[in-house]
Amino acid sequence: MTRPKKLFIKTYGCQMNVYDSERMAEAMGGQGYVETDTPDDADMILLNTCHIREKAAEKVYSELGRYRGLKEDRPDLKIGVAGCVAQAEGQEIMRRQPLVDLVVGPQSYHRLPDLLARTGNGARALDTDFPEEDKFEALKGRGKAKRGPTAFLTVQEGCDKFCAFCVVPYTRGAEVSRPAARVLDEARDLVERGVREITLLGQNVNAYHGHDKGLAGLIRELARVDGLERIRFTTSHPNDMDDELIAAHGDCDKLMPYLHLPVQAGSDRILKRMNRHHTAESYLRVIERLRDARPDLHLSGDFIVGFPEETEEDFRDTMALVEEVKYGSAFSFKYSERPGTPAAERAQVSEADKDDRLQRLQALLGRQQRELQDAMVGREVGVLFEKVGRHPGQMVGKSDYLHAVHVDGYGLAPGDLRRVRITSSGPNSLRGTLV
Ligand code: 5AD
Ligand code: SF4
Repeated sequence: MTRPKKLFIKTYGCQMNVYDSERMAEAMGGQGYVETDTPDDADMILLNTCHIREKAAEKVYSELGRYRGLKEDRPDLKIGVAGCVAQAEGQEIMRRQPLVDLVVGPQSYHRLPDLLARTGNGARALDTDFPEEDKFEALKGRGKAKRGPTAFLTVQEGCDKFCAFCVVPYTRGAEVSRPAARVLDEARDLVERGVREITLLGQNVNAYHGHDKGLAGLIRELARVDGLERIRFTTSHPNDMDDELIAAHGDCDKLMPYLHLPVQAGSDRILKRMNRHHTAESYLRVIERLRDARPDLHLSGDFIVGFPEETEEDFRDTMALVEEVKYGSAFSFKYSERPGTPAAERAQVSEADKDDRLQRLQALLGRQQRELQDAMVGREVGVLFEKVGRHPGQMVGKSDYLHAVHVDGYGLAPGDLRRVRITSSGPNSLRGTLV
């Protein structure tokens, strides 16, 4: 019997890459590849890369450097680069790294098996097209293996917003939505295999238009799928939070009370320079309406400090906005110059100022996160259990608000959804007892 070939995938960046890596592994499964968790015994290594900030992109080249020895020992080893660095710098990767056999962009990875077949005897393959055909249709059915209780499901890709700092519209292309019927089929299939919670993914997920009532329409249909208990979605743009979606937060029980709604900055001058097409005030109004619909909604956000031309005063506007919103969690970054984006050409803020602002912002966001988490003590929440904890009998799951929760619960299994009373709050998680 021939030994199955082994595939090692290393995933960088966002949740959509996590989803894409799964789909690529499934596509290669059809070619006799099984996944391995180490590059050392792999027949093929695939890096699924991220281009959003400079550091993320640099990691690819240093990781490739580490594979040189492996390739010398095993010349048959195939090395591929996928994802957004592949899209943005495909030719450059081929030129700089002769050990790379293939490069495939995020919109053409359904062609991975064909590309692989074209390599060998010195031949290399590159595909960074934005093809006409829908890759999800070309990939068709997913594997039938049993799944964990949570899953990502990509429903929308690409972005037409062109924020002045962002590479996504260039690496992922124009906004495209998958038809609702396809998404529902995939969701039902996931549920059949044990999934209880689905997070709908898109670079601009609330601009989804694969259903005539938009993302809210899709969510309401998903909510009718028996066995699917929880629905989340990410990432959203404030301008696409329409009335239907805000209402769904109020009356759709399966839609969880947690929303990631990036604002990036609190200064209207900077928001304008960022090409965000909203003001601090209009963002705050959206939050107000969401909280009217769902008072216990936990908010999360993304922030960039040190965007070109940002002054101390502009930065203080960001701090003031954060004070007003009170975030349950947040991600904050120093602005990173991305080649080809408009902001890269402008007057840059010094590294020292970026460091100082990031530290102040993260201190404030950290305090807010902890305060909101501590306020959970004494409350009863739903927890979906995902895995066994480090201590015997302990299970770990996620609250409705996405906090990690540890519970002593002999007899509980991954996939169980139970009511839990929160008893204490630690640095990164809550502890509770079954009700
Ligand atoms: N520099 C720093 N952060 C960035 N992001 C996007 N582009 C950049 C950049 N050039 C951040 C934004 C976005 C998140 C995914 O990454 O906050 O919401
Ligand atoms: Fe990038 Fe998001 Fe702006 Fe689109 S909306 S350009 S993905 S930051």
